[in-house]
Amino acid sequence: MLRNQYKLVKELYTLKNDPTAANSDVRIRGWVKTNRNNGHIGFMSVSDGSCFENIQVVYNIDEHPEFADAAKIATGCSVDVSGKFILTPDAKQPFEVAAEEVILLGTCDSDFPMQKKRHSLEFLREVPHLRPRTNTFNALFRVRSVLCGAIHEFFQTNGFLYITPPLITGNDAEGAGEVFTVTTREDGDYEKDFFGKHACLTVSGQLHVEPFALAYDKVYTFGPTFRAENSNTTTHASEFWMVEPEIAFADLEDDMELMEAMVKYCINAVLERCPSEMAFFNQMFDKEHTLIDRLTAVANSEFKVMTYTEAVDLLLKSGREFQYPVEWGVDLKTEHERYICEEVVKGPVFLTDYPKDIKAFYMRINDDGKTVAACDCLVPGVGELIGGSQREERYDVLVARMEEMGIELDSLKWYCDLRRFGSVKHAGFGLGLERFILYLTNIGNIRDTIPYARTPRNLMF
Ligand code: 4AD
Ligand code: MG
Repeated sequence: MLRNQYKLVKELYTLKNDPTAANSDVRIRGWVKTNRNNGHIGFMSVSDGSCFENIQVVYNIDEHPEFADAAKIATGCSVDVSGKFILTPDAKQPFEVAAEEVILLGTCDSDFPMQKKRHSLEFLREVPHLRPRTNTFNALFRVRSVLCGAIHEFFQTNGFLYITPPLITGNDAEGAGEVFTVTTREDGDYEKDFFGKHACLTVSGQLHVEPFALAYDKVYTFGPTFRAENSNTTTHASEFWMVEPEIAFADLEDDMELMEAMVKYCINAVLERCPSEMAFFNQMFDKEHTLIDRLTAVANSEFKVMTYTEAVDLLLKSGREFQYPVEWGVDLKTEHERYICEEVVKGPVFLTDYPKDIKAFYMRINDDGKTVAACDCLVPGVGELIGGSQREERYDVLVARMEEMGIELDSLKWYCDLRRFGSVKHAGFGLGLERFILYLTNIGNIRDTIPYARTPRNLMF
């Protein structure tokens, strides 16, 4: 590999109890976080991004007068440091590098905003190109990466095929009409447009992936989705990533079992692979410092299940004044969802069997004729983490429901075809990656879970 002559800080951590590594020659590179000296000795903290921890470089100005230059290196500069690896078991950090040479690679202008002082998350949103240099985002984006890896790993090791549905599509899967149009014209004459018809960015890969479940049995998608909802909340983004598994020969029970197994697998993976990052979130983003304990408990307990009807009863009996009043038949808002999981259940909960009138056309109608075999997984601090359902596999029932909802059959004939050609019961769900990160880190705002957030009236570079 290219980096051969350089050691990663992460690698050095594996040597921290290895006496044979002591005093060996090491060379590292990275960005200066802090640099201070007392005229004789200097201490430079350097981050190379390989792990949450920085490395301390010590330079002796008395012994090496040329280090007077190193003392001038400002926060934010990039450096290349050679020296000896020194074990310091009694100090705050287990090792340091005693510098022999410090090369300044890139200078840093004095208006670099990422100085040592703590910045608010709001301020950091204004500099998305620089915030990865902070501890918070160093940790956040590593958790995000590890989580993405764990998601793929969970599905791949459980026999799921990875399908990549199109991002440009001709239909709005949820029937909600909140799509971004894709056009090369200014006049909205879509017949003369690039595709010869109205095209939009996908709101969900589900409809395109169902055909694959009916060929491969177990499949999943994992990619970006786009919604033009004008919701300015801490849990809504206009561009977000969704994981959507789809399983054949499966009902809602099987679906919920899969949701629970996946969430638990990912919690364990992140706790195990990001211990420093999670300790940081536990310390800095959770008032009670119980984030890790709560996640550990969730990974080791069964999720509760409750019907929508039961949840509405609990909300009505709660004596709470909600901003949006509740009655059977209304769509639950985040405040209701959070009350149920935070105050009643105190943990993740599946709400099942929602009224059909507030749910999508493809959800399977229950025998009562009023509700559908749908399920949302609600979690504390976030509300809805996952939305899923058993799909309507009966051709006549599906078509009748589409007609009832005024959905154009023509453009979804292909989708209905699946119900004529070897239809089987099947189910699936969608989990929003950024909401999962909110849940795992407690960071509080979806704008801080994604490299470059897109929300209403906000598209910075
Ligand atoms: O509940 P939703 O809308 O379900 C679907 O799109 C289905 N087609 C999924 C399926 O069954 N295959 O969205 C699924 C999840 C939500 O539970 C939420 O976590 C996330 O996607 N989500 C959003 N995340 C961030 N910003 C938004 N605007 C989101 N809208 C949905
Ligand atoms: Mg939903």
